[in-house]
Amino acid sequence: MNSIRFRKIDIFVFGLIFFIAAVLSGCDQSGKKEAGVPGRSPATSSTMEIQKPHLVSDLISGRKVFEAKNCNQCHSIFERERKIGPKLKSSRFYGSFLDIFSLLWNHAPAMAVHMRREVLERPTLSTTELNELVSFLYMLPYLGQPGDARHGEALLESKTCFKCHSLGKKGSRGGTPLDSLAVYQSPVVLLQRMWNHGPEMIGRMSTIGTSIPAFSGNEMADIFAALTKEAPDKGKKVFLGVGNAENGEKLFTDKGCIKCHSIFGKGGKQAPDLGKTVAQSNVTKLTTQIWNHVGRMTQKYHQEKMEWPHFAETEMSDLIVFLYSLNYVDKPGDAAKGVKIFSQKRCIECHFKTGEDKQKLLGAMKAINTTQFAAELWNHTSAMEAAMVTQGVPWPEMTGDQLRDVLAFLQKQ
Ligand code: HEC
Ligand code: HEC
Ligand code: HEC
Ligand code: HEC
Repeated sequence: MNSIRFRKIDIFVFGLIFFIAAVLSGCDQSGKKEAGVPGRSPATSSTMEIQKPHLVSDLISGRKVFEAKNCNQCHSIFERERKIGPKLKSSRFYGSFLDIFSLLWNHAPAMAVHMRREVLERPTLSTTELNELVSFLYMLPYLGQPGDARHGEALLESKTCFKCHSLGKKGSRGGTPLDSLAVYQSPVVLLQRMWNHGPEMIGRMSTIGTSIPAFSGNEMADIFAALTKEAPDKGKKVFLGVGNAENGEKLFTDKGCIKCHSIFGKGGKQAPDLGKTVAQSNVTKLTTQIWNHVGRMTQKYHQEKMEWPHFAETEMSDLIVFLYSLNYVDKPGDAAKGVKIFSQKRCIECHFKTGEDKQKLLGAMKAINTTQFAAELWNHTSAMEAAMVTQGVPWPEMTGDQLRDVLAFLQKQ
């Protein structure tokens, strides 16, 4: 294997992610109040002893695990380079923690064959590492598709933005210039600024008799591309990162969203339950979904005499990635189904063969959470695979649902 070539590619890929996710030093501090350079470092999860499943949204820790465990030796993500294993397409990673883990589990024997061939050790994973790795894969679809600046410019015209705004020499003279957004590297800034000025902007729209423009598809990304086309020199760029889901959860309460919206049944009842209507989609879809409801929301805020919340620095990014994270944690499985799967997949033949075996597994599974369960499975694949080969048991492929059900069954014993 040509390891020097691999290293070069990895540096390139890491750069790409860094571009999206990292906070570079020497960024322009202007506009800090509206959307600026975050001061806090992302919450490090490694401080927690037993890792509960929760989305680590920063991409960097997961990417580090991906490299440290040699996944990058066989898989490309963004590069075109063909490697031994399949390119990991972001579209494969929709689903919860266990849905994504099931991909790893189901391919474990095939991966093991290639690892032996490449003389790579089968990596073990701590609960922290596994959670970071799966978080990283879960975050891949978030980034969405980059926008098309030319289409974006046409949209600024057709969506009536140019009636009140200018961009460079284009648009309405005397309108509010949108050029200042060009330094930002995160499309969420567009929503954050539009949201912050929402009531004022919407008021002006009703004065001049235009309706509030709604967006679809990749249009908000296109507009953002148009606004950032004349990007200033590197030193002036402001990198905001992808946001921090844990902080977003706090903001959901602090900014009053929870007064109207619930999440999985908890919270206000007068607006849609965002646990049900907002899925793991991508950053553009989420910003679009929020903007398209701003008109209705401003009315509601007005009726309820609530102050329109203002978002500073990375707050909107945090909130959006929190909404994106809602699918990550698994719902409880069905123990009754789990008992059937446990025998259909022939787990029973090895694990419940004697009372002692049974007690051993149930002891190990007592009060276990999803991440621990997955790490237990992953770290015992070699032993299990060897036993299965000897006893002629086929590798028990499982879906995320089946894993949830088996876990529910084991937890219940
Ligand atoms: C020695 C090479 C090798 C290493 C190292 C390796 N894989 Fe794989 N991986 C493969 C091969 C080959 C497949 C396809 C297996 C098959 O066809 O069933 C695969 C399949 C997968 C799949 C399923 C892809 C899909 O689209 O269904 C995922 C996810 C995956 N690997 C993730 C990882 C992760 C995460 C790591 C690091 C912990 C890793 N792999 C390490 C070779 C490797
Ligand atoms: C009817 C007039 C009107 C229309 C149409 C309009 N806006 Fe605005 N917009 C405003 C006003 C007023 C403000 C507040 C600006 C200020 O503080 O002077 C604003 C503020 C903004 C800001 C924040 C600017 C900053 O520097 O923080 C952005 C971004 C923005 N609008 C984008 C858009 C986009 C994109 C469209 C088209 C989809 C649009 N606007 C359509 C009136 C309008
Ligand atoms: C005063 C009540 C109220 C508050 C507070 C509120 N919303 Fe809403 N929101 C609504 C209503 C009503 C709708 C549905 C509008 C419609 O159906 O057109 C909505 C729709 C949405 C949607 C689209 C949901 C869907 O099913 O497509 C999102 C996303 C959303 N709000 C996010 C937020 C966020 C984030 C906050 C906090 C910053 C927030 N909302 C605060 C009333 C509110
Ligand atoms: C052919 C025998 C065999 C089959 C079938 C089998 N396992 Fe295992 N399993 C093992 C062995 C061997 C170990 C490693 C035990 C050790 O290292 O102490 C193990 C370990 C585990 C562990 C780690 C906890 C522990 O006790 O060490 C879990 C969890 C587990 N298996 C679950 C399952 C599930 C779920 C199935 C069915 C999908 C299954 N096993 C099927 C043989 C098997």
